[in-house]
Amino acid sequence: MVLHKFSYSRMFTKDHIISIRDFSKEEIDYVLSRAEKLEIYARGLEDRKCNLLDGKVLANLFYEPSTRTRLSFEAAMTRLGGAILNLSSTESSSVVKGENLADTIRTVSGYCDVITLRHPQEGASRMAASFSSVPIINAGDGAGQHPTQTLLDLYTIKREGLLDGLKIALIGDLKYGRTVHSLAYALSLYGATLFFVSPNALKMPEEIKSDLKETGAEIFEYTDVKEVIKKVNVLYVTRIQKERFPDPTEYSKVAGTYRITTDILKENEDVVVMHPLPRVDEIDVEVDKTKNARYFTQSFYGVPVRMAILSILLGK
Ligand code: NCD
Repeated sequence: MVLHKFSYSRMFTKDHIISIRDFSKEEIDYVLSRAEKLEIYARGLEDRKCNLLDGKVLANLFYEPSTRTRLSFEAAMTRLGGAILNLSSTESSSVVKGENLADTIRTVSGYCDVITLRHPQEGASRMAASFSSVPIINAGDGAGQHPTQTLLDLYTIKREGLLDGLKIALIGDLKYGRTVHSLAYALSLYGATLFFVSPNALKMPEEIKSDLKETGAEIFEYTDVKEVIKKVNVLYVTRIQKERFPDPTEYSKVAGTYRITTDILKENEDVVVMHPLPRVDEIDVEVDKTKNARYFTQSFYGVPVRMAILSILLGK
């Protein structure tokens, strides 16, 4: 489907946001710098109102649970003066009657100016884009990609002043975690050194590692956080993706295999702890009180970053 011209700038020429691999470093930098300009509006201060997307409509189509992604897209659209349609539960929609994704997308794209889609199937957003008359934003496709999470992760790292020469440990479910798949690809554009820390059963897929190596990325693999904590600036911790395990007994073998505690943090007092959230038990709640914890700031940054994305895609 050929879209009308949505691209705002020569720096950004995409009709849809499907995979972080479709982005150049310049395009990512452009989104991040725009988010910086919009952050003041994301905070919702009385004298800082923004109506860039007045009259525009965002439709959130979520076929999987979400708190942060859906609500921060809603907050972003609201802060920009736009409106939101929500399909937040497939049980209450025609999906239960057997409607296929293509028909839903064809219909919903007639009601709005941009669609965010979260779906359990890898590749669903790319498929949806071929049926949509408005931009599709991938808000997570199975174990595939989560590009807007990556942009807010990069924004968080940039705001910490750590993006250049970054050394980062990606910890947890590297097999099924879409956030770490997207993030690893993006970080390879910035020349980051990547330490993958996971149980053996949840290692980063070979295909992704070989793609990363082709870009010249430096990758190291470990099974224990203690072996890497002194070597890195950031610990990016993730949840074990219980819902993606074909066999629940396999999940029970790896559940609770690693945990960030205040004790471990004593090994590197300056390390920044990030997490896309939700957390289950992989970060002890005591860590929340430390100066290392950055995951709630990170989730706030979802608002300015998604404001940047929406305003760029909708050409404002
Ligand atoms: C992540 C996701 O949905 O992939 N959540 C999010 O969008 N912040 C991480 C997760 O569910 O573990």
